[in-house]
Order: sequence, then C-alpha cells, then structure tokens
Amino acid sequence: MTTATFSSNTGAGLLDDRFAAAGRPLAAVTGAEIQAPLIQGGHVRYANLDYGASAPALSVVSAYLNEILPFYASVHRGAGYASQISTSVYENARNIVREFVGGRPDDSVIFTRNTTDSLNLLAGCLPVEDQRHTGEVLYLDIEHHANLLPWQGVPHRSIVASDTLEATVASLRAELENGDVSLLAVTGASNVTGEILPIRRLAALAHEFGARIVVDAAQLAPHRRIDIAADDVDYLAFSGHKLYAPFGSGVLVGRPDWLDAGTPHLAGGGAVSEARLDGVSWTTGPARHEGGSPNVLGAATLARATQVIAALDQANWHAHETAIRSFLVEGLQRIEGVTVHQIFSDTDPDTDTIGVVNFSVEGYDAGLVAAYLSAEHGVGLRDGRFCAHPLLKRLGLPSGSLRASFGLGSRLEDAQRLLAGIEDLRGSGLGWDYVVDSGRWVPANDTRSYPHWAPNTPGTAGAAPCALD
Ligand SMILES: Cc1ncc(COP(=O)(O)O)c(C=O)c1O
Repeated sequence: MTTATFSSNTGAGLLDDRFAAAGRPLAAVTGAEIQAPLIQGGHVRYANLDYGASAPALSVVSAYLNEILPFYASVHRGAGYASQISTSVYENARNIVREFVGGRPDDSVIFTRNTTDSLNLLAGCLPVEDQRHTGEVLYLDIEHHANLLPWQGVPHRSIVASDTLEATVASLRAELENGDVSLLAVTGASNVTGEILPIRRLAALAHEFGARIVVDAAQLAPHRRIDIAADDVDYLAFSGHKLYAPFGSGVLVGRPDWLDAGTPHLAGGGAVSEARLDGVSWTTGPARHEGGSPNVLGAATLARATQVIAALDQANWHAHETAIRSFLVEGLQRIEGVTVHQIFSDTDPDTDTIGVVNFSVEGYDAGLVAAYLSAEHGVGLRDGRFCAHPLLKRLGLPSGSLRASFGLGSRLEDAQRLLAGIEDLRGSGLGWDYVVDSGRWVPANDTRSYPHWAPNTPGTAGAAPCALD
C-alpha cells in the first residue's frame, strides 16, 4: 500500500486507496464552486469545511424550491388554487419527514424554526400534575446549549460524562436508578467532536426506569439513518439548515400525548379550536404549536432534502465520509503541535463518529487560525466554543478550538487544502498581519470586497477570539 502524503501539492495518484471514496462529492450542492478572495490577491475555490454549522443546499433542493415557488401562497387559510397546493405541500412534508425518521403512525411531526426551537417546545410540554412537573430532565455536560438551556427552566439534573462512553452510560444508569427522571435529553452526535451516542441503548435505559428520551439529532440526521420506532426514541429534533435545506425550518417528531397536553409553543392563529375574548380552547396535533403562518417553503425543502438523503447508498455514504475524516485526522496528527480532540477514549473513529474533526494548533488562538485559513487559503471552518461551553471547559479548551465539518458536497481536496494551510502555518507562520476588530480576528488592511448585496460590516469578516461562542 502506498503511503499517503499530506503536503499541499499532494496528487491524487499518491494517495492511499483508503481515501479514494472521497475523490468526488457524493451529491451536488449549490455554491460548490464559489470563489473566495485571498488577502494576498487572487481567488480560490471556497473549501467549505463548515457543514456542521449550516450545510449548503443540495442542488436538488434548490431546484425543487424554484419549482414550487410560483405556487407559494398561504397555508390552511385559502380556498384558492395556489393556497391548496401550498397546503398540500406543507402537510405532505410531515409525512415525508415521518418516514425519514422511521416515525410511528401517531407521532406528531411539528415544524419549528430549528432544533433549538424544537427542544424549547418540548420543554413546555413536560408532564405536570397539580401545577408541578412530575419528574426531572436528565442531561450530560457534553450537550449543545440548545439541549441544555431549555431544561434549566424546568426541574433538571445534569451529570458530567466520563472518559469512556461505557462509563458514561453506567453513570446515566446510576442517575436513572435514583429515580424521578421524566426525560433523558441526549445528543445523537456531538457537535464538538462528532462522536455518536448509542441512542437505541440509551432509549432502552431510559424506559427501564420509566423515563422518556429526546434525541437532539441536529448533527446526527445529516450523517446517519435514523429509525425512531426501531430505536424506541420518544422525541427527535433536527434542523433543515444542517440537512442541506437552509431555508429556515426545523422539526420535532414524537409521541403525541405530552405534546397535545403541553403549553402551545406559539399562541396565535391556527393553534386554537375556539378563541374568546377572555379565554381559548387550544387545538391538538401539530397545529397546537404552530401558531401563525407557517414556513411552507422551509418545511417543503427540508422534506425534499430528507428524500435525497434517504435514497443514498449507505455503503457509499459511509465510505465517503470516513475517507475524508480519516484523511484529515491522520494528516492533522502528523503535524507537530496539532492536537485532535475527542470526548471518549473508547470511540471508534470509523464507525462511531460523523464528519466532524476538532483540533487546536499550539501557540495560536483558534480564532486567529480560522481567520488565517479563510484569508490566506480560502478555507472556511468554525472556531470558538461551539455553543458547548461546559464541555469545552472540561476538555481543557476554555478559550475554544477549531472544528472542520463536512458532508455530501465535500471532497478530499477540501481536506487537503486545510492540511496544507496548517502545515504552512507551522512551517512559515502567518503570511499577513491580523488584528482583533469588533471582537473578532480579521486581517489588517483588508481590501477584499464582498458582493454588492453583502456590504462589509464590522464583525462579519473574521473569526471569534477566545471569549466568544
Ligand atoms: C448538536 C446540536 N444541537 C443543536 C443545535 C442547534 O441547532 P439550531 O441552531 O439549528 O437550532 C446545534 C447547532 O449547531 C447542534 O450542533
């Protein structure tokens, strides 16, 4: 077997066969060829390694949006032709999403703004008796704030994850054994390191002690097949914008009893069966929580994206993602002064990790590295604390780290570009001066321009220094 090399001029022919699956994108995405201006002049194809924040739209999804846009009209509120079509598209999107997640026939499928919104909605639906919650929400310290802060407003308890996944599951068991947990809230995959949690096992564990489980699938859904009926998951939340449908819709799927009895998430038109001047009778079903005019295009495009993902060949999908990840991790580990981070020492990077790699570069603030990669190499990735402050602190990264994340539109060349940039940084240092402006690292004397419809605004050009998210 040939040995992979990781220099900027690595030719595909020199690469290890293990990485062949990542030579091309697995699906076409809108904007795949955009050119990023470099600080020293010229342009380069934008290497988007920030899928975990927001993934680009699948080209199929963009085309679908154009197809349905002429029919865009009010939903549930009009007898006209376009309104009927829009209503049909919106309601059918629920069925498509239910199928995508392997939902039970009676599961509610509620469209929301995003995962954060979905989990806040569920927090308003926890069972209450005599005006008191009947149990507590249990969560780990590895969660994204979206699956941490909504529970702080209700009875809750948290535990610190252990060094291994096995020990962490054991800690969860011990906490559940203590009793009084109504809901276990857990991420499907960490947005910080990409490590996957064993949701089928955790669902069985929660149920053993009379609790339910909600899975934050914001990161998992774009990377793995999900089957909530088979895994016995009670609630699942995810976002369209991380699933190749960046049009502002999220979803909460799950058992209808709590949702039908819970506090309506958005009080307003459509959420009631009867409103009076001094009172209201709330409706049940998804409408209870979807007050106001819904985001029909967001829901429709999210549903269309799920169809594309559901049709992917599992083996190709996994091979593509694993190849990019292994290439990146092995390449980063060969560069002196670079550390790759993970939460659990017993996670298998090939099977238990999605397309996310977290790392830091000795001697450089993460925000500065991100600004440098963007300005000098046209590489986009995320830096900071990833809205997971407790975890970053516990991992010994209180001032943040870097996260490369990828997906269907990614190719090996994106990873090569990142590695070349980090090698250059370690070998030659920064090629430009950088300053902190409006709290973010930016190149000094930046004369690059944005398109005329995106005027340069302070704080948009750079990357977060330690203190920010
Ligand atoms: C694991 C996880 N949960 C929740 C969220 C919140 O998603 P959104 O911003 O779409 O609400 C994110 C976003 O990064 C995430 O990665």
